[in-house]
Amino acid sequence: MRKSSLYLIRNKYDRRRASSVINKITSPMPKEIIEWMKQFKTWNFDSFLLNELTSNNPLSFFMQYIYQAYTLDDKLDMDKKKFKAFFWEVQELYHKENPYHNAIHAADVAQAVFYFLEKGDVNLVWGLDLLETISSLIGAAVHDLDHPGLNNYYLVNTRCPLAVIYNDKSVLENYHVACAFNLMRDEKYDILSSLTQEWNKVSRSIIVQTVLGTDNAVHFQHLNSFKARKTASDYDPKTKDKIDSLTLILHSADLSNPTRPLDYSKKWTMRVLDEFFQQGDKERELGLPISNLWDRYSVNVAQSQIGFFDFFAKPFFSEVSESFPGMSFVIGNIELNVEYWKTQTKRCQKELEELIASKP
Ligand code: CMP
Ligand code: MG
Ligand code: ZN
Repeated sequence: MRKSSLYLIRNKYDRRRASSVINKITSPMPKEIIEWMKQFKTWNFDSFLLNELTSNNPLSFFMQYIYQAYTLDDKLDMDKKKFKAFFWEVQELYHKENPYHNAIHAADVAQAVFYFLEKGDVNLVWGLDLLETISSLIGAAVHDLDHPGLNNYYLVNTRCPLAVIYNDKSVLENYHVACAFNLMRDEKYDILSSLTQEWNKVSRSIIVQTVLGTDNAVHFQHLNSFKARKTASDYDPKTKDKIDSLTLILHSADLSNPTRPLDYSKKWTMRVLDEFFQQGDKERELGLPISNLWDRYSVNVAQSQIGFFDFFAKPFFSEVSESFPGMSFVIGNIELNVEYWKTQTKRCQKELEELIASKP
């Protein structure tokens, strides 16, 4: 398969534009951004502000910081030029026009993984090595690569070529990770090339498994197996349960918007629903069945969030954070955010009724 043929969704992808962006990477990172990026060690990290400060390059800047913070040149002999070039390309492959699944979300999720590992006590409890840490962060950075702003249901229902290739199973997640490794087939983006064959295999396996685990369709399967394994006599997150455990961390980061401070959490809510509703509009136009979850004429925004936060996010984070004292604060944040949405139910109902009344 030729390399470019994998970019099935990103038909607007322009390799020349990407190369011109790569040329800019020789310029050093501005000092004030380096100063500000100390924030990413806190849960108040503002990925929207990072996006502004870096002129829409949040992900590549974040990953450069990661490279420096973990001294990857020294410790893993990772080539700095390749690392920069790879994440510039990755960032370019995210769709700026998507309200939610864009490079800001990828940077936000990568920061959440970083936070959970370093401040949320995951590293402390599980004793991860650098290869496992960095592979988890790479997985986070590529986990929604080239996302079309439409979900698996849509791709499957419309028999999109990707759904056919992946036999309707975790279509997007398979695609995101394949896209990342396809990029690495080019020597100048092969960030794992300095690793021994064995380490390369380990890293690839972590990246593939953790990204596949971001499919919400396998959410309960992962949660239930984590619950069961956690109490098993042979449970060992340091060896045989490692990949499943890391999968849970990326999935937690991907679902972390209900746990962020209210201002940021609200922004993510409006963005994710905006993207859902655009999909619903498309389905309506095509005469496809629309799920109630993304039909703008049936969703009460506040109620949808109370449902998502209380019944989906909270039980999940309660289970995960039981193992990590440094993550337990997220439950309090979910509860505060749910309280906010409860105060908005009536307003959202009124807005919904007005929208229905004005429906063309
Ligand atoms: P994705 O980032 O691909 O994987 C996790 C999914 O959870 C995400 O896509 C959305 O489909 C869903 N999700 C995340 N945040 C919310 C939210 N606040 N409300 C509803 N769905 C959400
Ligand atoms: Mg995804
Ligand atoms: Zn995501």
